[in-house]
Amino acid sequence: MDLSASGLTQRLAEAGQSHLLQFWSELSPKEQADLTHDLQGMDFNEISGFFKNAMETSSSSKHDKMDARMEPVPREVLGSVTRDRESLKDWELAGLQCISQSKVAVLLLAGGQGTRLGVSYPKGMYDVGLPSHKTLFQIQAERILKLQQLAEQKHKIKCCIPWYIMTSGRTMESTREFFSRHSYFGLDKNNIIFFQQGMLPAMDYSGKIILENKGKLSMAPDGNGGLYRALGNQGIMEDMEQRGIAFIHVYCVDNILVKVADPSFVGFCVEKGADCGAKVVEKTNPTEAVGVVCKVDGRYQVVEYSEITLATAEKRSDDGRLMFNAGNVANHFFSFPFLRDVVQKYEPKLQHHVAQKKIPYVDAQGQLIKPDKPNGIKMEKFVFDIFQFAKTFVVYEVLREDEFSPLKNADSQDGKDTPTTARHALMSLHHRWVLNAGGHFIDENGRRVPAIPSLKDGTDLPIKCEISPRVSYGGEGLEELVKGREFHPTLMIDERGVHELVKNGV
Ligand code: UTP
Repeated sequence: MDLSASGLTQRLAEAGQSHLLQFWSELSPKEQADLTHDLQGMDFNEISGFFKNAMETSSSSKHDKMDARMEPVPREVLGSVTRDRESLKDWELAGLQCISQSKVAVLLLAGGQGTRLGVSYPKGMYDVGLPSHKTLFQIQAERILKLQQLAEQKHKIKCCIPWYIMTSGRTMESTREFFSRHSYFGLDKNNIIFFQQGMLPAMDYSGKIILENKGKLSMAPDGNGGLYRALGNQGIMEDMEQRGIAFIHVYCVDNILVKVADPSFVGFCVEKGADCGAKVVEKTNPTEAVGVVCKVDGRYQVVEYSEITLATAEKRSDDGRLMFNAGNVANHFFSFPFLRDVVQKYEPKLQHHVAQKKIPYVDAQGQLIKPDKPNGIKMEKFVFDIFQFAKTFVVYEVLREDEFSPLKNADSQDGKDTPTTARHALMSLHHRWVLNAGGHFIDENGRRVPAIPSLKDGTDLPIKCEISPRVSYGGEGLEELVKGREFHPTLMIDERGVHELVKNGV
C-alpha cells in the first residue's frame, strides 16, 4: 500500500504522531488497510485540542478545592420520597399522564466498557444470578413494558415509551444482536433505537496516541457525556421530535433497581417546570466516594469526593444530615428543548475530563507491555457536565435501598457493587414488596421469617424472592397475589403465576 499517496504520512508528521506507523512494514496488507482506515477517519487537530484543554483543566483543578464556592441544594428545588409523601401520588399521576400521551422517552447509557466487571460482552447482557436468570437489559425492557401497560390502563389510550440505547463501537453489534435474538423482550422493535457514541484514542502524557498493538490504536469511548455529540450526529434529536417526545429520562445500564421512566420523578420535574433534573440518594458516610449534586458559584454541578476537603465532606446541617448529601446516581430528566439546546449550543463548550489509566501498549521494540501503574490518559465527558446550563434545575431524592444498586465490580470477598450485591438488593426490595402487600415468608421449620432479618449468625442473606416487572413495576398490584398467604423461599412471581421453587423441588 502506498502511504505517501494517501497524504497520511505527512498528516501524521504534522500532528506529531508519526510513531503510529513505526511497525508499518511488519503489518499484513489487511492490517495496513485497517490502520489506514482508522487513521484517515481521525481529526488530529481536534484530538490534540481536546488533549491540551483536558490536561490544562485537570492540572489547574488539582490545586483549588471547590469548598469555598459550594452551596447545598436548596429545599425549594428538592423533592423527596420521604419528606414529601403527600405529593407523591400527584407526581406519579402527572408522570403517568405524560407517559400515556407518548411524550416520555428513556435513554440508556450503555457505551461503557465495563472493565472492572471484566466481561467481554456488554454489561446489560450480564446475568447476576437471579432465580429467573434475567439480564439487566431484560429487567429494564420489562419495566418499560409494564409501565406502558399501567399508563394505558389508567388513561384508556395506547401509548409507547421509545427506548434510545447508546452503545459504543465496542458494544453496538453484540447489543443489537442480543435484542434481536430475544425478540426485543416483547417490546416493539420500532420503538427501540440504537445509536453509537464516539471513540477517542488513549494518549500518553505528552499527547502521543498509544498503540495497542503494532497495527491498532488504543481507542476508548468518549465518556457517557459523549451522549450529546452522538445525539446530534446520529439524527436522534430529529427522531425524538418526530415522535413528539417532550421529556427524556436518562439512566445507566448497571443499576439493577433503576425505575425506568419513573412516573413520580418525571411528574415531579414536569410539575416544577424543570428543564433538567437529577435523581439522588442520600450520602450518609462523609468519605463515600460518590459525587454530590450542589451549587458551585450559583450553578448546579456534580462535585466529586476528591474535589473537596474532608472537613467539607463532614459538614452537617441542623437536622444532622450531611450538608452535601445529594449523592448522584446518574439518573436524569431533561426537557426536549433543553436537550436540543445542549446538543446544538452547549456540548462543544464542555471540556473532557482526564482519567489516568494503565493502558497496555507496544513499546518501540514491538513488545506488548501491560503497565502496573498509570501510563497515559483517556478523555471523557460526563453526562452531568451540562447541569450548569439548566435554567430550572430540580433534585429528586429517593431511597438508596429502593432504587440504587449499581453493578461495577466482579464478585470478590466483601466486594462493593458486585453481582451478589445487585442480586441481593433486588431480592430484598421484592421481599419488602411482598411484606407490604400482606404476604409472609416461612422457613423450613414452618416458622415465620421476621420482617427484619436477624444478623446474629453473621449472615445477612436476603430471602430469595423475585417478582417479574411484567407483574409489578414498583410494588403495585401484589395484594391479590400474596395478601394473607405464607411462602417458602424461593418465591417467584411472574406472568404465569406465583411459584415456590424449592418446595416444588424445582
Ligand atoms: P462507568 O463509568 O461506571 O463505566 O459507567 P463502565 O463502563 O460501566 O465500567 P468501567 O469503569 O469500565 O469498569 C457508568 C455508565 O455510563 C455508561 C456505562 O455504560 C454505564 O451505564 N458509559 C460509560 C457510557 O455509556 N459511555 C462511556 O463512554 C462510559
